[in-house]
Amino acid sequence: MAENFYWRKKWDRVLEWNFREPKVEWFKGAKLNITENCIDRHLEELGEKPAIIWEPNNPEERTRVVTYSRLNKRVCQFAQVLINNGVKKGDRVCIYMGMVPELAYAVLGCARIGAIHSVIFGGFSAQSIADRLYDAQAEYIVTCDGAYRGGKDIPLKSIIDDALIGNRLVKKVIVYTRTRTPVSMLKGRDVWWEDEMDYALSQIERNNIVTLPAVEMDADDPLFILYTSGSTGKPKGVVHTCGGYMVWTGYTFVNVFQYKPGEVHFCTADIGWITGHSYIVYGPLSMGATSVMFEGIPTWPDAGRFWDIVNKYKVNILYTAPTAIRSLMSYGLDPLRDKDLSSLKVLGTVGEPINEEAWHWYDREVGKGSSPIVDTWWQTETGGVLISNLAGVTPAKPSWATLPMPGVQPVLVDERGEEVTEPDEEGMLKGNLCIKAPWPGIIRTTYGDHERCRKNYFATYENYYFTGDGALKDAQGNFRITGRVDDVLNVSGHRIGTAEVENAINMHTNVVESAVVGFPHQIKGQGIYAFVITEKNTHEDDRAKNDILETVARIIGPIAKPDKIQFVSGLPKTRSGKIMRRILRKIAEGETGNLGDTSTLLDPGIVDEIKNKAL
Ligand code: PRX
Repeated sequence: MAENFYWRKKWDRVLEWNFREPKVEWFKGAKLNITENCIDRHLEELGEKPAIIWEPNNPEERTRVVTYSRLNKRVCQFAQVLINNGVKKGDRVCIYMGMVPELAYAVLGCARIGAIHSVIFGGFSAQSIADRLYDAQAEYIVTCDGAYRGGKDIPLKSIIDDALIGNRLVKKVIVYTRTRTPVSMLKGRDVWWEDEMDYALSQIERNNIVTLPAVEMDADDPLFILYTSGSTGKPKGVVHTCGGYMVWTGYTFVNVFQYKPGEVHFCTADIGWITGHSYIVYGPLSMGATSVMFEGIPTWPDAGRFWDIVNKYKVNILYTAPTAIRSLMSYGLDPLRDKDLSSLKVLGTVGEPINEEAWHWYDREVGKGSSPIVDTWWQTETGGVLISNLAGVTPAKPSWATLPMPGVQPVLVDERGEEVTEPDEEGMLKGNLCIKAPWPGIIRTTYGDHERCRKNYFATYENYYFTGDGALKDAQGNFRITGRVDDVLNVSGHRIGTAEVENAINMHTNVVESAVVGFPHQIKGQGIYAFVITEKNTHEDDRAKNDILETVARIIGPIAKPDKIQFVSGLPKTRSGKIMRRILRKIAEGETGNLGDTSTLLDPGIVDEIKNKAL
């Protein structure tokens, strides 16, 4: 598969690995630059073909079509801007932007010169950014004045300014103008994207070069860091490397979606998440595809937005999340009426388990029963898809991710790490999902703390990569992902750690302690349910709840605000002080009957109190 890419020098060895340390080296000895694969190698044949088609938030605004040759020009120009501002190979550049083409230029510009990008989703707060900047020891930021999302303007630069209070490391902030919101610009630190780009262009023109040479990278040099939540309170910086990630995203893009040259691919994710990295930017571009990038949200100005985009650009592959499908379902069929979706050939879903009702709606109303749906299971840590049917090649099974990609070896294990071999009454194997051996897109380390990577993913079960998910396997070898088995929630496809939310709630001045669990939510998949103990004399009213919500929005971001807050006088704890989340989860799910064994609790009476007042 790696032969399908352009390498400056090919590998000496394909793979060396052990999961003990862990150490995984793919394509050792190989030299490359991923942008030569995403841009340069297409220029001759596809130079005038669109690489990125950009659909603005406001449908009245002008569309932008970025051809491969234009992409080349802009990426080289921005790479020169980075150089001019002192960025060198290996430096960390934090990118906090809305979904504008400049975000793609920024990402690829970093890759061009070997700087490590770390994109932060626009829904994270200043505090979250500050933590990530510190963890990555980032010295450079690329941002926008603001971002448009539906009816809202998000003041990105102002949030960055808050994140930088007390920060002594960041040297330069490059600000792209999108919303023309007034922003503060600090002399010596903050510079305008437009000015910098103009200057870089004049340099490039003066030197008569069309293409800025790409920096040669080792296959296992880091390409980017992307922060994601785990079961601890602190997000981890997942590190992906140049060679393996490139091969895995390109290979899975072509095979899962059965992409054919000339097709238009529309992945509705945000580049702030791994799905956007892999299937808006790197995967499609490395294969010379046309990638649609959408600035807005599916329900603004109305719930027909996706269908208008599909029609407008004759989209062939539509890749979205179950939460978006469920949300659009709730608007009924009106928004779909008179929309021409005949260009669609393949549909995809990702991010969370898809319920059968949503699957059938997607199949019937969007695919008109004739477009295969690929249910792609993967994670930030896996770089690209690991389990999925291949569109039109292997059969789909509603709400099942089905078979592993060729090259992937999943295994189900029990609590002790023994491989599950005994099917249950329904003929299913049931266990925790692990992977036996590395694939090229596997996480290499957690930034700045390799031991954390080992502990999190490779220590639970010896010699296996542990995904954190539970799964079923049928007699034909198909996998159905049942959800996380650790304390991680999946809210509207966003991954959020319960410990993170608890930490944020506990920061509120009136809060003594809290416990957070998930509960089934019609649209979001999972909602956030918080049980909160407050200080004596606190008025436990809606105002107190709103203050807690505001605190969480400040500490993590609006995406982590609990859907329900229940004030309680105590939490169900064991004698050793451990919170019995199993019980809280059942209460949050609306279970009123049997809550299982509560005899080991320090104060079993608390359970009835919580249950009686459940929301
Ligand atoms: O629980 C699984 C769920 O999303 C988790 C990974 O989240 P994140 O790293 O944010 O990446 C999301 C996009 C790749 C997984 O551990 N998940 C992802 N895809 C599916 C899924 N659950 C069920 N079915 C899927 N297709």
